[in-house]
Amino acid sequence: MAVRVDVEFAAKDAVRAVKRGDLIIVVDVLRCSSSIVSALANGVEAVIPTETLKEAYRLREQHSDYLLVGERKGRKPRGFDLGNSPLEFLRELVDGKTVIMTTTGGTRALVRCRGAEHVLVGAFLNAGAVAKKAVEIAQTNRVNVSFVLAGEKGLFSLEDFLCAGAIASEFPAGTFDLSDKALAAVLGFERVKDALGEYVGESRHAKHLIELGFERDIEFSCMLNHFGLVPVYRDGKVTLMR
Ligand code: MLT
Repeated sequence: MAVRVDVEFAAKDAVRAVKRGDLIIVVDVLRCSSSIVSALANGVEAVIPTETLKEAYRLREQHSDYLLVGERKGRKPRGFDLGNSPLEFLRELVDGKTVIMTTTGGTRALVRCRGAEHVLVGAFLNAGAVAKKAVEIAQTNRVNVSFVLAGEKGLFSLEDFLCAGAIASEFPAGTFDLSDKALAAVLGFERVKDALGEYVGESRHAKHLIELGFERDIEFSCMLNHFGLVPVYRDGKVTLMR
């Protein structure tokens, strides 16, 4: 039987994908997913996502050696070690560390997937690697695939949609059955893939980040298949799938 592929447009809808028992790929290109990929690529051992600032501060009190990272309204909150820029995760700062991360939408989407057995983190940076792993898991375990797009404030987000398309475009035709939403994402991605940074730069959230001075984050986050790693969320932590 073909593997069905669907897309949920907002973090709050993660629960639907969890209920279906699907393998979930959480996408928040700007910037949570890209930061997680960058963090793991630079030697972070584990990322612990939290929904609230309060939980993040409490965890940090319990583990003074953990780094506290993330954003509210795009900016680094009071007392945090790093913000949510994928470019901040320099190896000399983060290698070997455990990181507590809280962001407006991305970590919320992840935490809401905690009931699912297989949760991967997808970005343009690792699209090909995530697609390959998702195919392997879905076929071995006979489960369907759902993308959960973090969106922003419950709204549809162009960059996450295009990224779902980048990943789904790698699924083998014939054995993967795309919903109309998933197919639209693939068609959208195919249309813009040669100038991803330009199109993503037109999105609402990118414009907000540009206003805050984070233009380089957008360029970096649009580097398709820059990394071959796959982050997996399990037991409350995101780690590298080995
Ligand atoms: C989020 O999780 O809402 C985003 O990553 C926000 C941001 O751009 O930092």
